[in-house]
Amino acid sequence: LAIDWDIEAAEKGGYSHFAIKEINEQPEALRRALLGRVHQGELRLPELDALRASGTLDNILRIVIVACGSSYHASLLAKYAIEKWTRIPVEAITASEFRYCEPIMGPDTLCVAVTQSGETLDTIVGVRQAREHGSPVIAITNVVASGITRLSDAVLYLHAGPEICVVSTKTFVNSVSVLYLLGLYLGQQNGQVQPEQMRKLLDEFERLPGQIQDILDKANAPDDIIAPLAQRMAQVRSMVFIGRGVGYPTALEGALKLKEISYIHAEGFPAGELKHGSIALLDPETPLIGIATASHVYDKIVSNIQEVRARDAHVIVVATEGDEKIKQHAHDVLYVPSALEAFSPLLATIPLQLFAYYVAVARGCNVDQPRNLAKSVTVE
Ligand code: AGP
Repeated sequence: LAIDWDIEAAEKGGYSHFAIKEINEQPEALRRALLGRVHQGELRLPELDALRASGTLDNILRIVIVACGSSYHASLLAKYAIEKWTRIPVEAITASEFRYCEPIMGPDTLCVAVTQSGETLDTIVGVRQAREHGSPVIAITNVVASGITRLSDAVLYLHAGPEICVVSTKTFVNSVSVLYLLGLYLGQQNGQVQPEQMRKLLDEFERLPGQIQDILDKANAPDDIIAPLAQRMAQVRSMVFIGRGVGYPTALEGALKLKEISYIHAEGFPAGELKHGSIALLDPETPLIGIATASHVYDKIVSNIQEVRARDAHVIVVATEGDEKIKQHAHDVLYVPSALEAFSPLLATIPLQLFAYYVAVARGCNVDQPRNLAKSVTVE
């Protein structure tokens, strides 16, 4: 009996592409990121013990997060959460800009470098500069002993497991999560996060892998709408993604996923900026995806979506389960479970990844190795 198989097919574990395998691995990957760090309402990051013991973290007045691509989008999300939990000002900067902008750094500015590969040249050069100015550096990476780890005072690993597909999926979710853990740790240190609040936030955190699994189980069911919707959208020339607050970086990440693997032009905008120019892009041939999960700016994003609908654009909305009202403003609704506002991007991202994947498959694209892209950008 001859069995027909090859190593790559075996590595894909029955999936057609590494992309969809890795999307489906996200609950487990996130559980690994939380393992040993979140337990019974307590947060432990022993990787930061030495920095804390030295008093370095006591004197931090500002945090600068340096990253590229999806890691940059994770950093933009973390800005909201870390500022909320620490009341320390946070800037998220694209590393290729940071390194050439004569950044103002020093011992009271913590530099956080986010790079799943640990080898992105712009991020590495940015970190070198931060160090030269005396800033302490914390690296967040997926790759043990990668270049960035040798330049950092402390390393928080993503524990996402190997990511073979060029596009980031599970490492994006874990980057956001580990940045959030760092924010909670610093908030605990400076007394801004009280024990009761910490317990509540960590309980919510621990629910996330199960909630992501629920989204994936629904998406894998035969009656799910994401794959057929992607099939219908596969021939469009351009798509617009909008969000407000944490929905904005989520929109940026959704647009990046789509353009990377399907080669459809896609842009993410802060919804409130649309009317300052970009709304001119919209017409019946340009579908829009709005991130409208429950948040303090929900009414505002709904009103932006109504404006778009009035331009006859096809409107797809990512919303919170139970939000029936949103159906009157959208042609299609992709529901995700209810979560605290800060955590909602970790759920809203999943249908956007799946949408991009199914569009790319429908267009016959090389999903795992898109043209012109490398997994790790080690040149300028
Ligand atoms: C995202 O899907 C891309 N693979 C890309 O934007 C990536 O996030 C970027 O190149 C940064 O890579 P890094 O996290 O390894 O530094």
